[in-house]
Amino acid sequence: MTTKVEQAQVIRGLEGVYVSTTELSRVDGERGRLFYRGYAIEDLAEQGSFEETAYLLWHGHLPTATELERFSQQLAQSRRLPARLYCVLYDLPRETTPVTAMRTMVSALAAWEPNADATTPEAELYHARRLTATFTTMTAALHRIRQGEEPVLPRDDLSHAANFLYMFHGREPSAAAARAMDTFLVLYADHGFNASTFTARVTASTMSDMYSSVTAALGALKGPLHGGAMEAAMRQFLEIGAPDNVDAWFERALKEKRRIMGIGHRVYKTWDPRARILREQARILASESDEPQWFELAERLAERTLQHPYFQERRLYPNVDYYGGLVAYYLGFPPEYYTLLFAVSRIVGWTAHVMEQHADNRLIRPRALYTGAEELAYTPLQAR
Ligand SMILES: CC(C)(COP(=O)(O)OP(=O)(O)OC[C@H]1O[C@@H](n2cnc3c(N)ncnc32)[C@H](O)[C@@H]1OP(=O)(O)O)[C@@H](O)C(=O)NCCC(=O)NCCS
Repeated sequence: MTTKVEQAQVIRGLEGVYVSTTELSRVDGERGRLFYRGYAIEDLAEQGSFEETAYLLWHGHLPTATELERFSQQLAQSRRLPARLYCVLYDLPRETTPVTAMRTMVSALAAWEPNADATTPEAELYHARRLTATFTTMTAALHRIRQGEEPVLPRDDLSHAANFLYMFHGREPSAAAARAMDTFLVLYADHGFNASTFTARVTASTMSDMYSSVTAALGALKGPLHGGAMEAAMRQFLEIGAPDNVDAWFERALKEKRRIMGIGHRVYKTWDPRARILREQARILASESDEPQWFELAERLAERTLQHPYFQERRLYPNVDYYGGLVAYYLGFPPEYYTLLFAVSRIVGWTAHVMEQHADNRLIRPRALYTGAEELAYTPLQAR
C-alpha cells in the first residue's frame, strides 16, 4: 500500500540538507578555510585569544580593549564551583568515563544555578560564561579526584587556557604550553552544524534552557563517530611506537584497508586549516619535550599519506584531530580526556548556537517516513 507521504524524499543523515542559517562559522571545505563571524581562524589563533573568540561568538563583534578586559574578568570570576558539586564529583564511581561524568556534572550544575531556566539574552550570556568557566574547573577537578589528589581551586589572575592547565596539573604552565592550549581552544570553538551543535540547537528549539542543551550536546559528542577521533589518532601514534616503524605500519594498514585516524574529513577536501595551525603548536611543544619522537612519527605518517595515490585520489588530508591529539599529549592530558578537551572549547560554540536559536526560534521538528506494518488486526492477549 502506498500513501502520499511515502513519495517524500528521505535524506539519510541529513547530508547536504540546510536546516537553518547561522552567522557563527563558515566552513569552506574546498579552499580549506574556516571563519568565525567572518574572521579567519588563522588571525584569531595568531593574534587573538580564546577570550576574544568567545566574546566574538557570543556578542557578535570583536571586543574593544576595555570590553575584553571586563569580559575576561567576568569569565575568570565565574570559575568557582558550589561546594556541593565537589561532593557529586567525589561520589561518581572512578570508572565513569570522563565525558559521562561531565555530562552529569553540567546537568548537576544547573540544579545549583539560580535562574538556570532563564532564556532571556542577558541571562543566556551569563549562563554561557558560567558553563564555559566551570567546565574547565569541573574537568580538572574530575581528573585530580580520580588520581587521588585534591582538586586545585581556580585562580582569577590567569587566562582561561593557563588556568585550566594550572588546575589540571596543579602547577603553572610554561608560556609555550599556555599559548598552545589557547590556540587549541580557539580552533575547536565552532564548526557549523556538526552533530553535537545540531543536538544543542534541537534542544534549544523547544525553548529549553542552556544547561539542557549542553548536556544533550555532550551526549552527542561522546559517540566514537564524533568526539573520539583525537584520542584514536594519538593512540594510533602510540601503537606505532617509533618513527622508524611508520613505513612498515603504513604498508600493513593499507593492505588491511585500515582507516588512518586523523586523516580525511567529510567537508575539507584539502588540508583542514586547523590542522596546519596545530601542527606548528605541536612542533613547538615537541621541541621542548623529552618525547619529540611522537611529532616526528606523526610527520612521517602524514607525509606517507600525502604522497600516496590512494589518499591523493580520495582527497584525504590531515584533519584537526591528527595534530590536536599530539598537542593534547604534549600538554600532559591523558588520552581518555581528549574528547572532553574538544568540549572545553566547543562549549563556546554550543552556547552561541543556543543564543542564535533563541534569538529567532522555530521548533526543529522533522518527520520520519513510516515504513512499518499497516493496519494490522489486533489479537486479544488470550488469543496470541
Ligand atoms: C572523517 C571521515 C569519517 C570522513 O568520511 P567520509 O566523508 O564519509 O568519507 P568516506 O567514508 O565515504 O570515505 C571515502 C573514501 O576514502 C577512504 N577513507 C576515508 N578516510 C580514510 C582514512 N582515514 N584512511 C583510509 N581511507 C580512508 C574510504 O575508505 C573511502 O574509500 P572508497 O571510496 O574506496 O570506499 C573519514 O575520512 C574517516 O573515517 N577518517 C578517520 C577518522 C577521523 O579522523 N575522524 C575525524 C574527522 S574530523
